[in-house]
Amino acid sequence: MCGIVAYVGERTAYPILIKGLQRLEYRGYDSAGIALINNETKVYKCKGKVRDLENHSKGQDINGSIGMGHTRWATHGEPSDINAHPHVSMNGKFTVIHNGIIENYAHLKKELINRNYTFQSETDTEVLANFIESIYLDKKVDAEMAVRLALTKVIGAYGLVISCSDEKEKIIAARKGSPLVIGVGDNEYFLASDATPIVEYTDKVIYMNDEDVAIITRQSLDLKNIQNDQLTPIIQKVELNIEEIDKGDFEHFMLKEIYEQPNSISDTFRGRISIDKTNLFLGGIADVMPKIVSARRIIIIACGTSWHAGLVGEYLFEEYARIPVEVEYASEFRYRNPVINEDDVLIAISQSGETADTLAAIKMAKESGATILGICNVAGSSIPRETDAGVYTHAGIEIGVASTKAFTSQVTVLTMMALLLGKKRNTISDEMYYRLIDGLTEIPKKINDILSTEEDIKEIAKTYQNATNALYLGRGNLFPVALEGALKLKEISYIHAEGYPAAEMKHGPIALIDENMPVFVIATKDKSYEKIVSNIQEVKAREGKVIAIVTKGDEVIKKLADHVIEVPDTHEALAPLLTIVPLQVISYHIAVMRGCNVDQPRNLAKSVTVE
Ligand code: F6R
Repeated sequence: MCGIVAYVGERTAYPILIKGLQRLEYRGYDSAGIALINNETKVYKCKGKVRDLENHSKGQDINGSIGMGHTRWATHGEPSDINAHPHVSMNGKFTVIHNGIIENYAHLKKELINRNYTFQSETDTEVLANFIESIYLDKKVDAEMAVRLALTKVIGAYGLVISCSDEKEKIIAARKGSPLVIGVGDNEYFLASDATPIVEYTDKVIYMNDEDVAIITRQSLDLKNIQNDQLTPIIQKVELNIEEIDKGDFEHFMLKEIYEQPNSISDTFRGRISIDKTNLFLGGIADVMPKIVSARRIIIIACGTSWHAGLVGEYLFEEYARIPVEVEYASEFRYRNPVINEDDVLIAISQSGETADTLAAIKMAKESGATILGICNVAGSSIPRETDAGVYTHAGIEIGVASTKAFTSQVTVLTMMALLLGKKRNTISDEMYYRLIDGLTEIPKKINDILSTEEDIKEIAKTYQNATNALYLGRGNLFPVALEGALKLKEISYIHAEGYPAAEMKHGPIALIDENMPVFVIATKDKSYEKIVSNIQEVKAREGKVIAIVTKGDEVIKKLADHVIEVPDTHEALAPLLTIVPLQVISYHIAVMRGCNVDQPRNLAKSVTVE
């Protein structure tokens, strides 16, 4: 959730840290801070954004070629200057930035208070800084040993960067559950929670594993585990372009990412569909294909938008591969005692590949012997490393906190998987297999058509910008689109929105409908078209305002609805890939009209690495 960046080298650290924090601000943005390690360690931190930190440090001593920075998403303690990171231990020996949660911090704090330690902040991180210091002073060990000893006693998750005032030439990094990437340059090293702050300096990275500890100086990188076993760093090439992490001509990353969907979907299927469009190849799961083909059940686990993609996957797998599917919130799945069998296939879906609950659910499921697959966007992230096999979505980096292109790429992967599985299990006809593959390749062009109507969608947004509630209705595989549309609206515009299966409306939500209630109905032509037309009539009979997403040329709904947004015709199995796009666009414009910060909505963070 929080963003971490650190630098050890010959250059001035300050601009690298500030730029890095700006790149990472999408991970957390309630406060920010830096520490510059010189003859003395200077710490500047404040509540607010990175630009507030820049103002705060103006005119101050910002020299130093070793430093660390942090942008926070609060867990323990409200956003404030004091609770911002870095935290310095009571005797000034250790400076710490931290992403994650130290679960036994209260116990450790009590022990430290008994030993006359005092605390400035309410954070678990300051407890850790003092805990490391207490070991360092008591046991008279070096900083690295103090850190390792402390971490053996810590319960929880961490991505940590630590500096010791007696060993100013080095920084120590440690990871468990919260990602850390080391960038390797010439006589310089970078550290960050993801590669975005690193790519403009080097493409050589090392992804730290859980319980790794790195001791970094300008000339050396020493990688160990907490038990002090020596490890060999594996240097990889990072696949990320600097242009991808800029907004370009767009006002917000979210809009840029909505517009990237024709390309991101093409990138997702590129190389996986044969040129004659008669076959699919998913190299990442080829080795485990026999197990998937004979699976008795598929369990999909995910959170948020990725969970909605999973629900679309359920329709696809059941329809075309005839395998029973369960779709579970990872956070629920991991805390009950689910029955998982060896012949189950578990598919974890995650844009970031770092979501704590999804990761923990995978670890739990591993014990069952089930085959575990990942559908992830961020290469080298934790989930792909924990799974038996998987398929990358190749959507490119997603920076807007509200997920858009990741969703359509996830649905693209699930579509390809379901079709391939259907083909191998003989549960889909050749005709349908070819038709859907062909239909998938047409989707990018059709999304461009939808995006060309952005101005019309913006006009509709104007009408509903002051709504306080909204309802989203869909049936079948368009019900998850209703859920996703509602999530997009509520997370960036703060309008309360609910997604419902259209037929369920009569079992409660219909009571909410009055002349002020916008009801978004996803009503493209499919086998339940007649039924959804009836649902629209039911809403209109109660004076609700209907905004219908319809198939181009639909004259029936045009007469009933207050507004229609047309999408090109496609096979109904592929309709989620088109119908979600106008809902993303309308949420975006409503949020902008309401003056909301769409790329950094309040209380949210991009990558939820705490439980
Ligand atoms: C909503 C959104 C979140 C994420 C969820 C899971 O727009 O982005 O709901 O979908 O936090 O994240 P990943 O996919 O990274 O596991």
